[in-house]
Amino acid sequence: MTIRKIAHIGHPILRTRARELTREELLSPGIQTFIDDLIETMHDADGAGLAANQVYEPVRICAIEVRNNPRYPYKPNIPLTVLVNPVLTPIDDESFDNFEGCLSVPNLRGVVPRNVHLHVKAWDRQGGIIDSVVHGLTACTFQHEVDHLDGKLFLDRVKDTSTLCTWSEFERQHRDAFADRVRALVARVGS
Ligand code: NI
Repeated sequence: MTIRKIAHIGHPILRTRARELTREELLSPGIQTFIDDLIETMHDADGAGLAANQVYEPVRICAIEVRNNPRYPYKPNIPLTVLVNPVLTPIDDESFDNFEGCLSVPNLRGVVPRNVHLHVKAWDRQGGIIDSVVHGLTACTFQHEVDHLDGKLFLDRVKDTSTLCTWSEFERQHRDAFADRVRALVARVGS
């Protein structure tokens, strides 16, 4: 496995809509090795998720995993999930003002409204059908990653730019209040 370089904001690959894969392409040794690299790179960078175009491969694959993440200590755990050709559909209008960061946008965080209840359709890395519902902060993470595949960054969805902050100012100014809101959300929707 190889740890890949992560593209930073300003590189056009992050603004490119990633293309769908066929099942045959997905099952090819090249793409399967790429998925191993994507997961390895996400782990190495302590990311909660990583989209293929963040490592310069414009295909519709993203990996998501939260396991006691030091970048996001308040996040509920999410088991390792690989989404291929994902389609997300909001189930209702309920939203949560999520404080987000991104490996492609170093040292910046900001508040992004996200849907709280989502229907997820995708393939897993073997081409098996994923057809499920996700909630809460997990739903926020799925939306952040699938946005990447559409060439969007969380910054595009920040409504109030006065919420933008560095990671150290997030810790000092916003973390405790945000962690309280997360705990209330998790208590209500379970993730
Ligand atoms: Ni990101």
